[in-house]
Amino acid sequence: MFYKKPLSLQTIVLHWTTGLMFIAIFILGLYMVELPKGPDKFELIGLHKSLGALILIIAITRIVWRIKEGAIKPASIGSAWQNRLANIIHGLLMLATLTMPLSGIAMSVGGGRGADIFGWQLIAKGDSIPWLQELGSMVHGLSVNIIIALLTLHILGAIKHQIIDRDNTMARMLGRI
Ligand code: HEM
Ligand code: HEM
Repeated sequence: MFYKKPLSLQTIVLHWTTGLMFIAIFILGLYMVELPKGPDKFELIGLHKSLGALILIIAITRIVWRIKEGAIKPASIGSAWQNRLANIIHGLLMLATLTMPLSGIAMSVGGGRGADIFGWQLIAKGDSIPWLQELGSMVHGLSVNIIIALLTLHILGAIKHQIIDRDNTMARMLGRI
């Protein structure tokens, strides 16, 4: 049995804007840290930092919207543990869209470099604050494998709904129902 109620346009637009941006920034992060020091690496780190800070604004908008609208209901009736697991993963992914930008900004501000979005200054350069830089760096780095695991489960879940359950989960998130 399927729930036919569509998701709101805001939910769909905010999911794909944050989701695709998050994946792009994540892959950029993994790629740039492997590059040798030089102008290319420097430029990509700047791009990563600006896009990373920008996503924070979109993520906050999304979370405010989710709180206002309430949690989305499953598109099909699955077992209780599957629904609970999906909810936990959704919550942790949303949390990651806050902790990654915030820890990145903490790293940058802690290093005395401030934070900006493509030149639009958010926090001015200043003295370095070593504990803030270390904390930011620890959270940013330790989250990487957890996020990979969460995203893998999230995407596998969406594929399972599509191929095995053959329900409306994916169609609903794509705005097709
Ligand atoms: C190609 C990548 C992705 C696919 C195919 C995908 C697919 C989906 C689908 C089908 C749903 C609806 C689930 C349901 O109805 O129960 C959903 C919900 C959700 N997804 Fe994704 N997703 C992707 C990437 C991401 C990313 C990168 C994030 C966050 C970093 C994310 C966070 C969420 C959250 C929080 C929800 C709950 C609904 C909401 O509040 O927006 N997704 N996703
Ligand atoms: C959604 C937002 C973000 C995501 C998903 C993200 C993801 C990542 C990832 C995956 C890495 C590679 C980590 C590694 O393999 O060690 C990385 C590195 C880095 N990120 Fe982010 N990041 C985000 C936002 C930011 C922001 C806002 C800043 C700063 C303002 C920032 C600054 C950095 C820096 C400086 C590095 C390099 C760290 C090093 O050299 O070890 N990130 N990020």
